[in-house]
Amino acid sequence: MSQQQLSDQNLSNEIIEGLLQEKPSISPKFFYDEIGSHLFEAITFLEEYYPTRTEKQIIAQYSKEISATIGTCDVLLDLGAGNCQKGSALFPALKPKEYRALDISKEFLEKAISGLQKEFPQIVMQAQTCDLQNELTFPDLVGRKKIFFYPGSSIGNFDPSAALKLFQNIVQVCAGDGGLLIGVDLIKDPEVLNHAYNDMLGITAAFNKNILLHLNRLLKANFDLKYWEHSAVFNEQSARIEMYLRSMRRQLVSWPGGEKHFEMNELIHTENSYKYTQATFEDLLVSAGFKTVRSWTDPQSYFLVTYAAA
Ligand code: AVJ
Repeated sequence: MSQQQLSDQNLSNEIIEGLLQEKPSISPKFFYDEIGSHLFEAITFLEEYYPTRTEKQIIAQYSKEISATIGTCDVLLDLGAGNCQKGSALFPALKPKEYRALDISKEFLEKAISGLQKEFPQIVMQAQTCDLQNELTFPDLVGRKKIFFYPGSSIGNFDPSAALKLFQNIVQVCAGDGGLLIGVDLIKDPEVLNHAYNDMLGITAAFNKNILLHLNRLLKANFDLKYWEHSAVFNEQSARIEMYLRSMRRQLVSWPGGEKHFEMNELIHTENSYKYTQATFEDLLVSAGFKTVRSWTDPQSYFLVTYAAA
């Protein structure tokens, strides 16, 4: 078997294991096939979905302060870089000597980088695949001041204990130099949060349901989208948006080698999106071993951008 077939096999096993659990679930990383990536981009333009634009405003407004706080930057490491738009927007402020774009799939990154390289010929650029579930290591960057950038409240997909682990990993990789510039969504009026994940155009519903089309391709399964409904609710106790797909009737879903009966109203969990207060988020960074933290927010305190120095 080829590498590609092996990794597809691993992904299929991971998905089937999730579906057959007592509480079925699918990892949010499966949202981002080609259509899913475009639907997410559409979400970021929605009136109701404030995080992307608010983060952009905060970074633009405080770029001088942010770059003064960070100081020099040998290497900018962009976690979940995607199209590299947010990362490259930092070039004028941070003036990195080197840019390392990291994401699950490399092809997307390489396209983005070849365009950027023409615009910024003096910056050394490299794409690297990375799954943030696994440990990060950068043996070729030892001794250089590294600034990690993790925007968009992507950290919200991790539960706080997994976020702590990722932060500890970054502290260790930084080895007393550099740090982490990170964006996170803040706890706010549940109505605002619920609207952000239940938009009037139904783009978030399409984004959620599309995960089943992705599974149909990956597993050769037969999910019928007519019988699945989007659900997203803010759980105040857990400080997270929980996203599910709800089975609208009893149904059988099958794939080569397996099947699963769903009851009417049975749920498949597809995403958690944790929200923090400034205090709980800064405490988490400090308990991971970062020495100092400094944060910036918008006038409504909807979103937080924090620099944590290692
Ligand atoms: C990409 C994880 C930050 O949690 O807000 C948007 C994904 N899901 N609408 C988020 C998402 C539904 C998004 N993150």
